[in-house]
Amino acid sequence: MTEDQLLTGVRSAIAAAPNATGAMQQAVRLLKDGKPHYTWVGIYLIDGEELVLGPFLGKPSPHTRIPLGRGICGAAATEKATIIVDDVNADPRYLACSLETKSEIVVPIMNGPEVLGEIDIDSDRPAAFGAGDRALLEQVATLLAEALSDSQP
Ligand code: SME
Repeated sequence: MTEDQLLTGVRSAIAAAPNATGAMQQAVRLLKDGKPHYTWVGIYLIDGEELVLGPFLGKPSPHTRIPLGRGICGAAATEKATIIVDDVNADPRYLACSLETKSEIVVPIMNGPEVLGEIDIDSDRPAAFGAGDRALLEQVATLLAEALSDSQP
């Protein structure tokens, strides 16, 4: 599926979702189904000084809470920028979830200057993530930011 088709589907699904949890679940499902090289797809949400695992598809991760200073996930939240790692085994920040994982992309979900959470995707393929994935996922992160912000009191 092309990035444009996938983004259109995610946009409709998020708009139709009853709440932020539903929006996150739909986004995770569509991304996982739409891109075969997305082996593990999950969303972490900020809770104080930690990232807490929300909806995900793929093998259960041991990393259900990640302090902001740890992992590629923590680095992306701290830097407030997308991180692509072509070879996770060569990155000392990497926290392993599955032995098969070879590459990873983490995209922060931002509300202005504030990090609300992030999209984390692992692939069993080395260097699986390129400019197209980054552009797609940064747009999905923007849609999720709106869904998460709308649902806050
Ligand atoms: N690899 C991540 C941890 C999360 S699991 O991949 C699901 C990291 O290094 O932060």
